[in-house]
Amino acid sequence: MTLRFEASCPDGLCPGWSVILKGEPPSDASKFEINFMCDGDGGIAFHFNPRFAESHIVCNSFTRSRWGQEERCSNFPFAAEEPFQIEIHSDNESFHVYIDEGKIMQYKHRVEDLKTITKVQVVNDVNISSLEITKKPF
Ligand code: GAL
Repeated sequence: MTLRFEASCPDGLCPGWSVILKGEPPSDASKFEINFMCDGDGGIAFHFNPRFAESHIVCNSFTRSRWGQEERCSNFPFAAEEPFQIEIHSDNESFHVYIDEGKIMQYKHRVEDLKTITKVQVVNDVNISSLEITKKPF
């Protein structure tokens, strides 16, 4: 695993914060991940995982030391060396994902206590040009 970015927000990221990642997959990209994590217990509330070989975005949560049921999105707007922008924000019900400003999916919260989601990380095959975390009016 290659960590590209990690930030903690002790008061919680969900709901209220918007994460905007601008970047580009390298020419040999296989997969990358954006993880919204529960800092205390190593759980992942939302794992957003574009996989280039499958042309799918795999989403899941890792709680109580295991992966749950995958939610797969076949709308795959990524290509090697093509710049993209991903925006992820959440309300009380779901994470909402926009790519290049078009909504592609939402993911219903599985972690009950949203305040425990305090860390965001980006790993593996993506060259980040900027990552912005902003407070949204909520
Ligand atoms: C596994 C993979 C994990 C994660 C998970 C999502 O097969 O090893 O990194 O992507 O799927 O369900």
